[in-house]
Amino acid sequence: MRLLATSDLHLNHAANWAALSRMPAQPDDWLIVAGDVAEKIRHFRQAMDLLTSRFARVIWTPGNHDLWTLPTDHESKRGLAKYFQLVEICREFGVLTPEDPYIQWPASHSPLFIAPTFTLYDYSFRPDHVLAGEALSWAEASGVVATDEILLYPDPYPSREAWCHTRCQTTEERLIETAARGSIILVNHYPLRYDLVNLRSIPRFSLWCGTKLTEDWHLRFPLTAVIYGHLHIRGTQHRDGVRFEEVSLGYPQNWQPARGIQPYLRQILPQV
Ligand SMILES: [Fe+2]
Ligand SMILES: [Fe+2]
Repeated sequence: MRLLATSDLHLNHAANWAALSRMPAQPDDWLIVAGDVAEKIRHFRQAMDLLTSRFARVIWTPGNHDLWTLPTDHESKRGLAKYFQLVEICREFGVLTPEDPYIQWPASHSPLFIAPTFTLYDYSFRPDHVLAGEALSWAEASGVVATDEILLYPDPYPSREAWCHTRCQTTEERLIETAARGSIILVNHYPLRYDLVNLRSIPRFSLWCGTKLTEDWHLRFPLTAVIYGHLHIRGTQHRDGVRFEEVSLGYPQNWQPARGIQPYLRQILPQV
C-alpha cells in the first residue's frame, strides 16, 4: 500500500488526458491530486470517475484552474459556489476534499493524518520593498498578469485575498485540533513558503502562488511532508527538516507525455 501524489493534470490538454487514460490501475494505492485537474466541469467529473476507478482512494484539493469560470462552460458556477460544485462532484465519487474530516493513513504505526487544505493567495509573496498596494502594478510592469484576475471569481468574498484569509484561519483551527491527535501530511495546491517559489523566467508571478500566512506552518504543526503543485517545477526540498514535494505534471511542455504518467507519480509513503 502506497501513498502517491500528483497535481496539475491540466486535462484540457489532449496529451495529458490521453496519458491519464492509459495509466494502469493501482487498486492498493491512494492518490493525492493537489489541484489544477481541469477548468471545465465535464472534464473534472470525467477525471474523478477515472481516478477513482484506478485507486483505492483519491484525495483532492482545488487549484486555481479548477476554480476558473470559463464563459463557454455553461455548467460552471462562480467563486465559492464553483468550489462547492467541485466538492459535490468529488462526493459523488467518494473523493476526499478539504471539506471532509482528515483521513488517517492506515499503514502508519503512529497516528498520521492526510490534510487536504485550500489556502489560495493574497499577493504577499513579493519582495519586502514592494508595497501591498503596488504589487499588481509591479507584476504588470514585467508583463505578468495571471489569468486568475479574469476567470477566478472571489464571490461572495470581496476579493481573493479575503477568501484566502478566511481559508487560512479556518484551516489553522483544524490543523491545531489535528496536531493534538497525530502528525500530518499537508496537501495544498500552493507552496506554503515564498522561498519555495522559484520561477526564474517570471519571478513576479509569485503574487499568485501563495500567502506568507502559511510560511511557518511546518514549524507550528507536526508536518511529516507537504505536498503541493502549481509551479510546474517538480522537485523535493527540505525546510527545517520538513520534506516539501512539488509533484506537478503540468502542461505537455513541462513533462514527456511519451513516457506516460506513471513515472511522474511521486511516492510519498512509504518514504523511498
Ligand atoms: Fe497548474
Ligand atoms: Fe495552479
